[in-house]
Amino acid sequence: MKKNHLLSLLAGLSLCAASCGGPTAETDAVIPRPASVEKRSGACRLASPLALSFDAPAEVADALTAYLRTTPLAVRTDDPQASDGYLRLTVAASPELPASEEGYVLSVLPEGVSVASRGEAGLFYGIQTLLQLQEQFGDRIPAQRITDSPRFSYRGMHLDEARHFFGKEFVKKQLRMMASLKLNRFHWHLTDGAGWRIEIDRYPELTELAAWRPIEGWQPWPYCRRDDPNAYGGFYTKDDIREVVAYADSLHITVIPEIEMPGHSEEVLAVYPHLSCAGKPHVYDDFCIGNDATFEFLENVLEEVMELFPSEYIHVGGDEATKKGWPTCPKCRARMQREGLKDVDELQSYAVHRLEAFLNARGRRLLGWDEILQGGLAPNAAVMSWRGESGGREAAASGHPVVMVPGSYCYLDKYQGNPSTEPEALEGSVPLPKTYMYEPAPQDMPGRERVLGVQANLWTERIATPEYAEYMLYPRVFAVAEIAWSAPELKDYEDFRRRALMRIDAVRAKGYNTFDLAGSVRGERPESLEEVRHLAVGCPVTYASEWYEGYPADGPGSLTDGKLGSWTYGYRWLGFLNTDVEATVDLGAVKPIREVKADFLQWRSAFIGLPKRVEIAVSSDGERFTVLGGEENDLPFDDPKLQCRAFGWTGEAEARYVRCHAFSHGHPGGWLFIDEIIVN
Ligand code: ACM
Repeated sequence: MKKNHLLSLLAGLSLCAASCGGPTAETDAVIPRPASVEKRSGACRLASPLALSFDAPAEVADALTAYLRTTPLAVRTDDPQASDGYLRLTVAASPELPASEEGYVLSVLPEGVSVASRGEAGLFYGIQTLLQLQEQFGDRIPAQRITDSPRFSYRGMHLDEARHFFGKEFVKKQLRMMASLKLNRFHWHLTDGAGWRIEIDRYPELTELAAWRPIEGWQPWPYCRRDDPNAYGGFYTKDDIREVVAYADSLHITVIPEIEMPGHSEEVLAVYPHLSCAGKPHVYDDFCIGNDATFEFLENVLEEVMELFPSEYIHVGGDEATKKGWPTCPKCRARMQREGLKDVDELQSYAVHRLEAFLNARGRRLLGWDEILQGGLAPNAAVMSWRGESGGREAAASGHPVVMVPGSYCYLDKYQGNPSTEPEALEGSVPLPKTYMYEPAPQDMPGRERVLGVQANLWTERIATPEYAEYMLYPRVFAVAEIAWSAPELKDYEDFRRRALMRIDAVRAKGYNTFDLAGSVRGERPESLEEVRHLAVGCPVTYASEWYEGYPADGPGSLTDGKLGSWTYGYRWLGFLNTDVEATVDLGAVKPIREVKADFLQWRSAFIGLPKRVEIAVSSDGERFTVLGGEENDLPFDDPKLQCRAFGWTGEAEARYVRCHAFSHGHPGGWLFIDEIIVN
């Protein structure tokens, strides 16, 4: 209740901020930014319906006429020869048109509008641009000629409906947004430990039981029957799926289903425990790879999935298998011996190879998360790189197609604003500028031509309502759309933000909820945006304990570089596990000092706590130290909100060496994260 109230309040606030203070010039606010816009004089009036005509195959004309009837662009079909007030759509192979069938030339003139392309998709995207211009300018669109075509062929958005189920009307609404942003791949995460969401005739128990939980929370995972009075969840019938796939197709979107295997499969194993190494539910997350019944099950499911989804790619998950049951499972061990597999990674790779052969034999291709590289990648597989970019780089360099979705740029379940005031999200911060600045295929990437594209991912462990899902998606999906479509040379965050503010107004008017971009400056910890000047900047630091190798910030100089960390603990924060931090700064000469403070982070969900106490000591020779004083922390470790706090001492002293000793909060497995020791 509270969360919804907050979101609608935020929505209302920003609507006012954007429309009261937003740009008013007649600059286009199209997202993604078109390749080229040439302004002409005058404007085209849309006050009365445009006379629609086609120079295109009949099926293209039929499809686009039907589509236009669903949009606010009023058209009539009774005067195809009209020379004024027309909308002319042409498919042609003219050399003047962009080479891609998704490219188009849109010409808006006082006498009418024309769109030309080599294919239906290009006409569709020209219409999307026109619709955005109509939303911005109303019934008087400034005359212009836009030539446009996409950078990547794969422009995706992902939605996890296993953790929380939103239903087909929500999905269709997001498909409409995708189309407007020229996104063309909907990655539908339909199965996971928290729920199975797709009807499979051969295995009705999957949706009788594994689609329902007696609680709203996504973990732990008890399941209940569909008719349980507390049943929470849902699933898509085959008719629902056909309806969504056909709807997506009418919007030039391919739906790629994801059926998780071999990990994240607790819901299947709850229903069919014989497919687990333990032979019973709730022990392991992963399918037993030694058991042929596992492959029989998966292949039967995939057979029905392929009947519903005509996509070239079928996503088989592959991420985060725990592999815990496999080393001791007699069936898995026997399989490893028979197949000459040396470890559990190769056992996983065996499973992926086998499923790939199954899909390839039916004319489909396998797509999986980057863990499918472990133990050897299947020969024709495509990789979705989420654990950073290295998996994508490795796969591309070895000749495989890749889709880039690195978590630190494309995971929209992370915070986009101040974590201490935003609704709960996955720890870590992915503000809009960060997503926008992501480059999926940098010049130095070997095999960069194999990058099919980029995708926004929305996991929904913490996202229980449709309103909150949209809040997390938009406007960050706008940024992914622009990265995916527009040439990198056109990137300009400030211009993008201007357009995003206008788009936010337009999509709110259509009933979408969005993050309050107008109220957020850069979506980042403000203190991290400006350097801190102090006496210790550039001074060497020695450490009595070692930081954790995975959180090295920028190395030993990080605590005196004048740079504070962001709301992402992986950025500029030096992380220490299960230990105190004792760091000594050498100021180079004895100097008067009046303040020493060390800045720390607390983030309960990542098990990062503030230190119990920070003590400051000084010395002139680096050997004999005098304790000046210190500060106790009074914030409980359990406080759930992200906090950055500095602890230290103020007074009068002289010193060359300044030692900061931060005492661990004492929670085993817990972290201290420090970004700077500030001396004044
Ligand atoms: C993933 O986020 N586990 C693919």
